[in-house]
Amino acid sequence: MGSAITGWGEALPERVVTNDDFAARLDTSDEWIVARTGIRERRMGGTTSELAIEAGRAALKSAGVDGSEVDLLVLATTTPDQTIPATSAVVHDALGCKGGAFDLNAACAGFVYALVTADSLLRAGHRRALVIGSETLSKVTDQDDRSTAVLFGDGAAAIVLESGMPDELIVAYDLGVDGAATPLLYANHGGYIHMEGREVFRRAVRCELDSITNVLTKAGIGPQDVALFVPHQANVRIIEAVNERVGLTMEQTAIVLDRTGNTSAASIPLALAEAADAGRVAEGDLVLLSGFGAGMTWASAIIRWGQEGLAR
Ligand code: ACO
Repeated sequence: MGSAITGWGEALPERVVTNDDFAARLDTSDEWIVARTGIRERRMGGTTSELAIEAGRAALKSAGVDGSEVDLLVLATTTPDQTIPATSAVVHDALGCKGGAFDLNAACAGFVYALVTADSLLRAGHRRALVIGSETLSKVTDQDDRSTAVLFGDGAAAIVLESGMPDELIVAYDLGVDGAATPLLYANHGGYIHMEGREVFRRAVRCELDSITNVLTKAGIGPQDVALFVPHQANVRIIEAVNERVGLTMEQTAIVLDRTGNTSAASIPLALAEAADAGRVAEGDLVLLSGFGAGMTWASAIIRWGQEGLAR
């Protein structure tokens, strides 16, 4: 028995922080930030649970289901509100969900890890999952450090995943981590993000390329068969470098980073939700999701878009 994405939703804080806002108080410029990253503005504010609840509510509404009809909640985040308890417990309560809930931290690859995990649990007997990526990276970013402050933003997005469908959602997936790379990108408890930007860039391109090649091979398809590519939204130059090497085009690619910055585990569902709202995916389309992040972790999945045969 298969599964499908039957709803999606997003939440972005109201406060917009533009590149010029940074240039007014740091030694940087809109030109530098746009040329090196593609980012023009990002949103900041709220807590990880508040954003997750708003995105979760929107996804439930779009799927036409109530929180009480969800029997599994997986929250991908690298910025939980507290060390204890898991942020998902707060979200689960606010949305009136049933069954279990847990946080999952795989940094910017977190949403694809969460999707694969939730789908596996549906196969094991769960009926309906809410999968959320939610982050408040502005809280762990030194807003006076131009090399990281301009990169990150806050936001959340969610999907509803339902079992009882004729086809499997996930056609192929690849999860990985290279824990030896932890010194390149980390934040200690109570501290700010430290990142070796140039080396992270180099490795991001390499591991995303390998991971995408892996899932395309597993699925037995080529880049031309991908209707929509939803990459992690860290830097448009990383996306362009990966696309060029894989043979994907920017026309196939969903981009939100110009307006959101890097929102870690929220970035892929935010881009997916926006593309779905814009009607960029149709029944049966193959959608490629691929993320990488601190760890270094990486995760790619090819999913089949579609809601036919809803077994509600
Ligand atoms: N404005 C102006 N100058 C800057 C800024 C800024 N905001 N930030 C850095 N610079 C300067 C540097 O100090 C450096 O100056 P120097 O040559 O005098 O030392 C110069 O610009 C070049 O710096 P580089 O780091 O080489 O610049 P690069 O082109 O590599 O861009 C960037 C930096 C954007 C951080 C890039 O390396 C990058 O995107 N790396 C990957 C980040 C990423 O993808 N992270 C994902 C994981 S995040 C997660 O998991 C939470």
